[in-house]
Amino acid sequence: VERQPLARYTTLGVGGEAEVWFVADHAQLAEAMEAPYRILGGGSNLVVADEGVPERVIRLTGPLAQADLTPDPQLSTSGQVVTGWVGGGVPLPGLIRKLQKLGLSNLEGTVGIPAQVGGAVWMNAGTRYGETFDGLHSLEIVTPEGTRQVTPDDLDWGYRNSGIPRNHIVTRVRLRLRPSTPEEVLARMDFADQARKGQPKMKTPGCAFKNPGGGKGAGQLIDEAGLKGTRIGQAMIAPEHANFIVNLGGATAADVLALLRLIRERVSVPLELEYELWPEGLG
Ligand code: FAD
Ligand code: EPU
Repeated sequence: VERQPLARYTTLGVGGEAEVWFVADHAQLAEAMEAPYRILGGGSNLVVADEGVPERVIRLTGPLAQADLTPDPQLSTSGQVVTGWVGGGVPLPGLIRKLQKLGLSNLEGTVGIPAQVGGAVWMNAGTRYGETFDGLHSLEIVTPEGTRQVTPDDLDWGYRNSGIPRNHIVTRVRLRLRPSTPEEVLARMDFADQARKGQPKMKTPGCAFKNPGGGKGAGQLIDEAGLKGTRIGQAMIAPEHANFIVNLGGATAADVLALLRLIRERVSVPLELEYELWPEGLG
């Protein structure tokens, strides 16, 4: 347990201090959950208040950040590989590379998402070439009330949404994969990666808003409102892609929140935030 600036753990590089609890097994997790807590993944979708948060912030480490990709003989068939447990704290990019080398398909559409497995599952991270739930067999969810195992069929999931309540911790999952070849998986990964060409390379938590269904995407709407390149403090709406806010160096959560408000004032279509705000009422 250590008090640390959460800026260190977010891809935006913003956020004040909190008590960070590193948990490596279910017993440590149960102890950490004895007081109000939050669960932190890769910090790649987070805007944390400059004051930090009062709750304990849990990080999964050790075995909960390791992946057993051995096919489970009971659950696997000739057309489908079901893996052993993959920890919620496993970084998704490394996992995707390993699956590619093994020639296992279903998750390569999520290439380039800097999440941990638990965070990717929690919001069903994805691209137009595939989403996390495409490769999910089952998952273990821990709350202060206990541990349960569920399958995707038990959850009300959809676009950027798993249906799992906040602070229900995805501790580990089993993946459901399709045997393919390393070459084929690599080709699909490269193809999906092309869609990122226009995304900024700076510190950011990814897309700020979900795409409203039907018509234009959030990026196009913000772009058409003439907001690309708009800057408040050290935060800026990316000139490359209007649905990304970037940290120019030393941005504060307040800068980012002010930009989010400005976007909502200027864009006539209601936009649903994709970022998670800590605390939730922030801004
Ligand atoms: P965090 O940001 O740490 O947390 C986000 C939420 O998930 C929080 O509410 C947190 O409590 C919860 N959470 C984290 N871990 C767990 C867990 N183990 N159990 C339960 N809840 C948990 N997203 C896309 O969908 N598609 C993209 O193409 C995409 N591209 C991106 C590109 C860049 C450069 C960046 C920075 C982000 C991008 N994102 C994208 C956004 C982000 O990567 C996803 O939202 C991702 O799912 C966040 O996962 P995380 O582990 O970083 O979660
Ligand atoms: N566009 C503009 N101006 C902009 C940005 C985009 O006109 O500033 C136009 C593009 O020209 C294109 C269309 O909008 O015609 C769609 O843009 P893009 O291909 O960049 O896709 P997106 O819908 O903006 C989505 C996801 C990304 C994901 C990419 C690639 C959402 C909110 N965003 O972006 O996910 O990486 O597709 O598959 O669903 C994220 O969720 O954090 C994220 C980065």
